[in-house]
Parts: sequence; C-alpha cells; structure tokens
Amino acid sequence: MLDPANLTARRAQPRSAALPKAELHIHIEGSLEADMVFRLAARNGVQLPFAGVEDLRARYSFSNLGSFLELYYSCMAVLRTEEDFFDLADAYLARASKDGVRHAEIFFDPQAHVSRGVPLEAVVDGLGAAIAAAPSSYGMSAGLIACFLRDKGPDAAMDTLDQLLHHRDAIIGVGLDSAEVGYPPALFADVFAKARAQDLHCVAHAGEEGPPSYVWEALDLLCVERIDHGVRSLEDPDLVMRLVDEQVPLTVCPLSNVRLKVVERIEEHPIAAMLEAGLAVTVNSDDPAYFGGYVEDNFTAVAAGVGLDSQALRTLARNSLQAAFLDETTRKIHLDHLDAPADPH
Ligand code: ADE
Ligand code: ZN
Repeated sequence: MLDPANLTARRAQPRSAALPKAELHIHIEGSLEADMVFRLAARNGVQLPFAGVEDLRARYSFSNLGSFLELYYSCMAVLRTEEDFFDLADAYLARASKDGVRHAEIFFDPQAHVSRGVPLEAVVDGLGAAIAAAPSSYGMSAGLIACFLRDKGPDAAMDTLDQLLHHRDAIIGVGLDSAEVGYPPALFADVFAKARAQDLHCVAHAGEEGPPSYVWEALDLLCVERIDHGVRSLEDPDLVMRLVDEQVPLTVCPLSNVRLKVVERIEEHPIAAMLEAGLAVTVNSDDPAYFGGYVEDNFTAVAAGVGLDSQALRTLARNSLQAAFLDETTRKIHLDHLDAPADPH
C-alpha cells in the first residue's frame, strides 16, 4: 500500500517518461491524428466532411462517450489499406516509445473496418507488420487485442470472433468497447467463453459510463483478466473489495475521463483514492489523438491535477508491467529496469 501522505505532495512535478511502463488501453484508431486523417484521405481519394486539420481539431470537444464515438468512427473512413494500418500503428509505436512504453497491448475495432468493406486481412496484416518491427525500430514489444463493438450486439460479435480465429496468431486477446450503457457484458458471455476456449486473453470496458453492475458482470460472466476504465467501481464498496482482493487491474485513462465528462476536471479524478484503496490501477491514453495526449501526458496531468509524487508514478508504472500479458521472464526484465537505481549521468 502507498503512503497516502505521498499521494498529495505538490512539489516539483515528477515526470514518468524515464520510467519503463506498459500501455494497456490504447485504441489504435484513437491514435489517428488530424494531420494523418488528411494525409490518408488524399492518398486514398476519400472526401472528408471537414474543411481542414484545424476544423477537425476544433471538433475535439465532446459531451459524452457517444458524441466522441461519432467523430471517431467518421475519421476511420480514411483507413483503407494494409499500408494505412501499418502507418497508423507505426506512428503510435514511435510516439509511445518516447514515453518509456516498453510494451503496448493495442485495441482495434475489426467491425468498424470490415463493415466499410476493408478486408480483415488488411487490418491485421498492417497492424501486425508494424508490431513485428517494433522491437528493432523502437525497442519495444506490442500485441493486438480485438474489441467487439457492444452496440452491434452479440451475434455480430460471434461472427467477428469466427473471422478473427482465421487470424488466431495475430491477436493476443479480445475486448469489448463502444457505447456502454444499454449493452451490459452479460450479452456477450457466449462470445467470451468461446474466446477463452481459444486461450485468448479477455478484457472489457466496464464502469466508464456504465454502472458498477457492468463491472461485476464482466468479472463473473466474461471472466475478464482486466477491467478497462472501471472508475465507477468506486460507487460500490463490495466491488472495490473484490477488485482489491483479486488485484484485478484497472486500465484508467484520466484525460479521456475528463474529455468525455466522466469526471468534470482532472483535479477531481479519483485516481488517488483508487490507489489509496489498494486497487491495481494503471494509467493509459485511450484515444490520444482526440483526448489531448499520450501516456506521458496522462501521467503528467494526474501528477499535477491530483498531486501524485514520483513514488506514486513508479507504482503506476509497476502496476502496468504487472498487469501486462507478458511472459514472466520479460516481465522481470522490465521490472528490474524500473527498480534499477537512476543513472547519475
Ligand atoms: N472506443 C474508443 N474509445 C472508447 C472508449 N473510451 N470507450 C468505449 N469505447 C471506445
Ligand atoms: Zn477505451
């Protein structure tokens, strides 16, 4: 447990970029920067409903998850070829490595592409090629987690899983994202059971806008290994006890929570209370192109906003490495680097 006194220190702002860490909650389509939207639109002859980069950026103002998802899905229209998906993932990996990310578990939304006529092979081959090059290009590793769009329902998710199983070796797991309220995890129990039978890791967005009961369902019915977001878990003390007892990792995304109005201001983010409760919290960027920053920006924002000191930031980095789907040898290498004394030079 952290010393709570350390959580509220407001001295010189500590930085996390030097800390080795894992990023476990990043939607690759959410790393599609405005300038890349226009570059790919020109390359693919896609007509955009925005006047230019600045006009697009001016629309990064959201009232909730739904208003964000509308823009997020409309920008994806420019992603058409294997090369596009390679370029998208390569740009993210280059950027993340600068923030000390040594391993990333990257979400993608297969249904959002296949439904537009993009072959699943183009998506997984493009993303996969960038990931395969990441150790030599950027000194980091990565894996892919395919997310089901919960608002498309369980039958569409099952069809998608069947298609993904033709590319079983391209993914490390499955997740559940998109509009949360009204689409409880229980709907997807059979889909996740089938994924588990294929030894795929399982995660799910729950407790972002949805109630704590969705987190219970994700744990009990989907048997997920991590909860994405989970900030609303704090409303249910029994749930907090369960998450602490089982040390279920929560992939929290502070800047996303502010931009999507899950919390009003960064200063009100519950991350310090979550750490104090003993929850296995990690910090992530969610959709960095849209929410004002990559993982280091999220660390910096919470450090300044709620007053986390360098020890708390180290705990967050450690939690991320402990929560990653890494083999134990690799995990230990990263943890040893995290714990190595700083080089005075
Ligand atoms: N897809 C991309 N970002 C998401 C988020 N924050 N919540 C749910 N689905 C998403
Ligand atoms: Zn997300």
